[in-house]
Amino acid sequence: MEIVALMAQKRRVIEAALFDYLPDRENLLNQAMRYSLFAGGKRLRPILALVSYEAAGGKEDEQILPVACALEYVHTFTLIHDDLPAMDDDDFRRGKPSNHKAFGEGMAVLAGDALMIDGMGLVTQSTAPPHFVQRALQEFARTLGAEGVTKGQADDLYGERRDPRFLRKIHLRKTALFIAFSIRVGALIAGSNDRLLDRLFWAGVLAGMGFQVCDDILDETSSREELGKTPGKDSDASKLTYPSVYGLKRSQRIAASYADRATKIFQSIGEDWNPLIALTRYLVKRRK
Ligand code: IPE
Ligand code: IPE
Ligand code: MG
Ligand code: MG
Ligand code: MG
Repeated sequence: MEIVALMAQKRRVIEAALFDYLPDRENLLNQAMRYSLFAGGKRLRPILALVSYEAAGGKEDEQILPVACALEYVHTFTLIHDDLPAMDDDDFRRGKPSNHKAFGEGMAVLAGDALMIDGMGLVTQSTAPPHFVQRALQEFARTLGAEGVTKGQADDLYGERRDPRFLRKIHLRKTALFIAFSIRVGALIAGSNDRLLDRLFWAGVLAGMGFQVCDDILDETSSREELGKTPGKDSDASKLTYPSVYGLKRSQRIAASYADRATKIFQSIGEDWNPLIALTRYLVKRRK
């Protein structure tokens, strides 16, 4: 199947499951959570998890959907907090005013908290064998915690170094680890062995690095309409990004090279992983 069609098909499955997990309720916290969760993200992380689960031979929606949706809950939490005035101070996200613009800062903090915590809880609804679920939860926490995304965000915000090595570390932690986990967890829930899981992790890290380099590039080259978020924020805030260190042209080559290296790993695993190659290409070639 064409990758665009495959993504659209997976996105429909994910949207339906998200609606089930977070139904409409008459309270402001629920409204604030739904506002950002259903604002129209690309759903890349749950798509990666579903595609990886299937490539690894998984066949039961009830095993993987709670985990895939958990990724989107937690990702949405990181976006809500990332946009707060105390962090990137972004007014626009997923084509709409940011959560704190619509609900106020206090509620945005809380909506993020609830999405993170309920997201973690959602993993336990998977019907996969309990030791797979436990491991998924353990690795999920590690991906997000003080050595993972949170540390990446702290360095992005407060780091004083401006060298390429530090830039790589920030992008690895704030973004690539989460993308890598999204791919790895699909195979983990399907019962793949450690050797495969490790190769998928490294392919995911490379794809995730390419994805964040592309995000940096789009901040400089895209429009608010196309991107659904305000461009130009990185240079306004003097953020350490790939274009700021390498320039646009070289950043584009770096993103492509990350995707090539990820592709080689997926190729070496076998044909079943071809959809992951197509997804990797999309991660670094996308326009939004
Ligand atoms: C944005 O992620 C934050 C980054 C890690 C660059 P996405 O580009 O996946 O955002 P959505 O989910 O489509 O809104
Ligand atoms: C965000 O990086 C990474 C996380 C949300 C963890 P950015 O700050 O570059 O993401 P955008 O550009 O606001 O989506
Ligand atoms: Mg940020
Ligand atoms: Mg930001
Ligand atoms: Mg960005």
